[in-house]
Amino acid sequence: MGSRRGATLSIDIGGSGLKMLVLDPEGIPVNDRRRVATPRPARPKPVLKALVDLMDAQPTFDRISVGFPGVVVDNAIVSAPNLDGEWTGFPLARELEVRTERMVRIANDADVAGLGVVDGDGVEMVLTLGTGMGSALFVDGKLVPNLELGHHPFHKSTSYEEYLGAVALKKVGTKRWSKRVIRVLQTIQPIWNPRRIYIGGGNAKKLKTELPANVAVVSNLAGLLGGVRLWEHSVHS
Ligand code: BGC
Repeated sequence: MGSRRGATLSIDIGGSGLKMLVLDPEGIPVNDRRRVATPRPARPKPVLKALVDLMDAQPTFDRISVGFPGVVVDNAIVSAPNLDGEWTGFPLARELEVRTERMVRIANDADVAGLGVVDGDGVEMVLTLGTGMGSALFVDGKLVPNLELGHHPFHKSTSYEEYLGAVALKKVGTKRWSKRVIRVLQTIQPIWNPRRIYIGGGNAKKLKTELPANVAVVSNLAGLLGGVRLWEHSVHS
């Protein structure tokens, strides 16, 4: 692993896949995304090993950004609902720094995805549809970190994540699931009144419905593209 000045290795840790690519200083990918299945059980040690193995085939980079599927406060892991309880308090940044001799920044995965797509004008929200449901909120491009909408009860005691996550999609099929996404959008819109809502995550492409005018599906690469902006923002809870 050599060093390319200003290049950022961007990593997206997901419940089903670990993804990475290298971004140039402007945030443009310099290589194709690489992906491996997330080891199960998704404990810190095997995930860390899979990440380091995947890094060997990457172009050179100078620093590392990580989108993590849970609450992250000041680079420290607080929760990982779709991975494993062992992640709570796990020093992921330090472990990666020791193994790579690069500086590491970690934030919530939906927050990193948002950093890559918001245009910085007014209130913007991001929803990611994958194993879980991620959410992010931005005001004039400034992140409100760790919005955990996914675990809020949406209908009776069902949370947004239980209603829209990968298990629900498999159970009800794309047509009904797409209707559910619309229902969630209609619930969110009058609460936060975002100017734009961006939908990302691996399952966004499965949406079979017309979306409201202020809602856009973003590329599946979004989870990685915010890796450079993460270094331009101070993400404090
Ligand atoms: C976690 C969020 C994460 C989302 C998507 C949820 O279960 O609580 O922090 O953004 O999954 O990975």
